[in-house]
Amino acid sequence: MVEIAPSILSADFARLGEQIEAAERGGATLIHVDVMDGHFVPNLTVGIPVVRSLARATRLPLDAHLMISEPGRYAEQFVEAGAQMVSVHVEADPHIHRTLAGIRQKGAQAGVVINPATPLAALDEALQFADYVLVMSVNPGFGGQKFIPTTLDKVRRLRRLIDERGLAVRVEIDGGIGPETIGAAAAAGAEIMVAGTAVFGQGDPARAVRELLAAANEEEVAGRK
Ligand code: DX5
Ligand code: ZN
Repeated sequence: MVEIAPSILSADFARLGEQIEAAERGGATLIHVDVMDGHFVPNLTVGIPVVRSLARATRLPLDAHLMISEPGRYAEQFVEAGAQMVSVHVEADPHIHRTLAGIRQKGAQAGVVINPATPLAALDEALQFADYVLVMSVNPGFGGQKFIPTTLDKVRRLRRLIDERGLAVRVEIDGGIGPETIGAAAAAGAEIMVAGTAVFGQGDPARAVRELLAAANEEEVAGRK
């Protein structure tokens, strides 16, 4: 079952509550929050206070994607603020076992993120300590970038690895996901689809989410034939 996680990065921040409600009406089941520190990535966005407010404003689980240096210093604070999923980049954290364990201990799902040019081998050990892997299909930092097609093979290989090891790890994909790419991502084995521009860049987030779900499910059904 594919889930859509709209990224608020492309939403109108002055009308955030309303925009999230519209996405939920369309069938979104998670809200993706992109946290950037201007250091790990060349952009700045939102942090802990925004997560705290969002947790009060929506019933949907918040999926915090930390694009920050030293994520281990802050990850647990995001759980305390109300995030039910927190992911950290494998490139940013030499102590990722400790960070993932801390997130889980606070009661949230722990995710590992890999950049487009980071090999799957970087996840080899961490995989068993994670609840999900977020595969970046663009270089992190900005919304509205073009999907990098080599990511599909990476998702496929990751899916196989998880299944071979019998792990209950879910695969999330982030960047350039829209009606033209979501089907291929679903067929490759991604289950959680992050979409910013495709959801909030149009006039009607509810309709945009419905269209994405339809495009993803079409592909899943076709894949089963
Ligand atoms: C990129 C962020 C993404 C971004 C996706 O650094 O991690 O979550 O919002 O935006 P779109 O869907 O527009 O590519
Ligand atoms: Zn993201």
